Amino acid sequence: MTDPPHFLLGDPKSIFNLPVLVAVLAVLIVNRIWTTVHKLRSVNHIPGPRPPFSPLGLPGVLIPTSWWNTSQDVHWVRRFSLYTNNETVSIVPFLIGKPLIWTSNLNVARQVASGIRTGFFKPTWSARALLLWGMNLFAAEGDVWRKHRRVMGPAFNNELYRLVWSQTLKTYHDLVTSEKWEEKGTVIVPVIQEITFKLALLVIGSCAFGFSFQWDEPPRTSDGSLSVQEAIRTVADTYMLRVFAPKWVLKLPFKKIQHSNAAYEAMALFMKEQVIARKDEMQDNTRKDAFSLLVKANEQEESKHKLSDDELIGNVYIMLFAGHETTAHTLAATLGFLALNQDVQNEIFEQIKEVVGYNRDPEFEDYHKLNKVLAAFFEALRLFPSGHLMIREASEDTVLQIPNPRGQEGTTPFIIPKGQVVVVDMVGVQYNPRYYDDPTSYKPSRWHGISNDSEDFTAFSVGPRACIGRKFATTEAVCFLSMLLRDWKVMPKLNVGESEGQWRNRVLDANLVLTLGVRDVPLIFVPRK
Ligand code: HEM
Repeated sequence: MTDPPHFLLGDPKSIFNLPVLVAVLAVLIVNRIWTTVHKLRSVNHIPGPRPPFSPLGLPGVLIPTSWWNTSQDVHWVRRFSLYTNNETVSIVPFLIGKPLIWTSNLNVARQVASGIRTGFFKPTWSARALLLWGMNLFAAEGDVWRKHRRVMGPAFNNELYRLVWSQTLKTYHDLVTSEKWEEKGTVIVPVIQEITFKLALLVIGSCAFGFSFQWDEPPRTSDGSLSVQEAIRTVADTYMLRVFAPKWVLKLPFKKIQHSNAAYEAMALFMKEQVIARKDEMQDNTRKDAFSLLVKANEQEESKHKLSDDELIGNVYIMLFAGHETTAHTLAATLGFLALNQDVQNEIFEQIKEVVGYNRDPEFEDYHKLNKVLAAFFEALRLFPSGHLMIREASEDTVLQIPNPRGQEGTTPFIIPKGQVVVVDMVGVQYNPRYYDDPTSYKPSRWHGISNDSEDFTAFSVGPRACIGRKFATTEAVCFLSMLLRDWKVMPKLNVGESEGQWRNRVLDANLVLTLGVRDVPLIFVPRK
């Protein structure tokens, strides 16, 4: 007679023998307890959540439930409750993931995120998504960052912002004509992001890469080959796939993957040709796009400071990825908030009417006078800070001065061991009652008195590593919103029987992937004239 299978519990020959299982489980539990104690020591026992997984790694980022302190949960759902007792907490996963110090305090943010001499750096794993095309300003550290900054800095000047202004104007007119808005009269847009994302892509395409787009340009050129415009669009759309998918996935015969591969190859070739062409055209002062300005600034550097061609290309791409989604999400959120706040919208409309009137388009020189338009954009960005996390790692054992809880003076020093990760939670900062009264309310008037570049507005980060594209984004936003709000009154598109409050809860909620935005915003545009 044959023996029964050896996989039954209780069979002494089975590997699933109960005592063996209990022993394995006991070892695992002791191991987890030991590791967790070690992790708690590493964060100085700062109080905070103890979830099973890290919100920054797998599987934490993928779990959508809101009760396990996963990605969505920590970044958004608990934006108030996480900091009830302390502005700086620790998140110590007891199953998988590194311990994290997580802060909503600007003082801590300044110590870790802002500088280049602070003992903290951007860990490579956190910038991996931004290194696909080569080293760039966003991902670089230390001396490499300084080298990139020397070349990138001069490109972000008024000439570039003038170009941003004129390209935004052109794109607005293109949109209204191509989509026949004037013929339609009242226009219903089911998802405003379809417009804001296209606008941001076209503006970056022309101002960073230097080629012109049409709003209604067909995806392929007439001979059927992939156009550069389509390639750049595909590159932007399939970026995450390329960063996170294993290499073999990119060889699969699926249409989307093949299309993405073709777009990447076309762009790689195109960008290399463009560097050569721009070096040849150095004397052509009519080219004001960032790519040309970068190549020019680079050629003027001593050879030891020069960026390689790949680094130049990396920096042009970083503009696409750092500046496209962030600006588009914030424009969508701004229009959503203005649709619900007609009084604010009217106040802005009055300012646009006063500064620009009806007989001309706004000019770049009007930018500073349209401060209420900018304030509306700032306030939407405060409530949905699209760059929502800043991740840093201690490069050596160091001391972090953590301010005492609100209402108590002073700071407490904490020893931070080398390798400890500190995360600046931009959502937490922007909703922190230490900095804003009534932080959940949309009140653009908070920003009326401040200068456009003031560090009082912190959602572009603070210090030397703050966003270099801040004025690029605000120039585009002020120009686009001024045109749109002068010509059209924006209203929420409600579902049947839906109240404005229900619309707000449905629409002005987080849509969080790599950047933070709002959900699909359905709007109605009614002509002002
Ligand atoms: C609403 C729009 C935008 C927001 C909210 C935003 C936010 C931010 C934040 C928070 C940082 C700091 C990240 C960190 O330290 O880890 C940053 C850095 C950066 N941003 Fe933006 N950004 C926006 C638009 C743009 C645009 C339009 C561009 C380029 C055209 C751009 C290019 C960059 C670059 C290159 C850096 C790295 C700077 C450095 O490390 O020196 N951003 N941005």
